[in-house]
Amino acid sequence: MLRDLFSIGNDKISDIDLGKIPEHVAIIMDGNGRWAKARGKARTFGHQVGAETLKTIVKVASCVGVKVITAYAFSTENWKRPSSEVDFLMDLLGRYLTNEIEEFNKNGVQLRFIGSRKGLPTWILRKMDYAVAVTERNTGIILNLAINYGGRNEILHAAKTIAAEVAAGQLNVDNIDTNIFEEHLYTKGLPVPDLLIRPGGDMRISNFLLWQIAYTEIWTTDIYWPDFTQEHFIEAIKAYQCRERRFGGL
Ligand code: IPE
Ligand code: IPE
Ligand code: MG
Repeated sequence: MLRDLFSIGNDKISDIDLGKIPEHVAIIMDGNGRWAKARGKARTFGHQVGAETLKTIVKVASCVGVKVITAYAFSTENWKRPSSEVDFLMDLLGRYLTNEIEEFNKNGVQLRFIGSRKGLPTWILRKMDYAVAVTERNTGIILNLAINYGGRNEILHAAKTIAAEVAAGQLNVDNIDTNIFEEHLYTKGLPVPDLLIRPGGDMRISNFLLWQIAYTEIWTTDIYWPDFTQEHFIEAIKAYQCRERRFGGL
């Protein structure tokens, strides 16, 4: 496993505790636009380079034993951006899904998606469904992409589905607990994130995984996502390993 970390100096990983790797790491891939602007380039160039960064991070995460990466790629609020940027992001996602499938399969990556299908173009939905279908038997890391995702939207969606089941007599109100609720979230079946990474310098959640991050450790950096390297990822894991998680206890 660690032999795959050929490009990370031993000094960087030697003090990582392989017995204490976060099972699920969530990432708010932020700062693409500002990264590009600082280089006198169009924001879209930042998105393009950011998509490459994700590949690198999935690889290193898989090497150290992370089981799930949930990456925030497009929020329910990102539709507010100029249509040219939105169109570019959809095209980029489409190309990513087409071009990376072979590599994902080679590395055993399972692709999943969270978010609302409503509002996404049919051609993207088709590519998403295909990507899930052809990677679902892979046994390696799960790459869970949040597309047209919003935490509030997800909670509303769960509440409505539960209400409909109650109305249909399939579910008793008294039986609704956190487990039942979680089964109605887009992240059904996945563990909650242990670590949330936000590059780009902002210290906010931006409507990401609102239910799931109740006790998640948060690590932020000023580095913009396109500049985020495997060394930064390792740094975040090390910081996580120094945290004392109390979950409200002592
Ligand atoms: C994150 O980068 C990618 C998406 C939100 C799609 P941004 O596009 O938000 O980049 P900044 O934050 O404006 O620099
Ligand atoms: C969060 O970044 C969404 C994604 C990374 C996809 P934003 O750039 O949309 O968040 P705000 O607007 O800074 O809160
Ligand atoms: Mg941003």
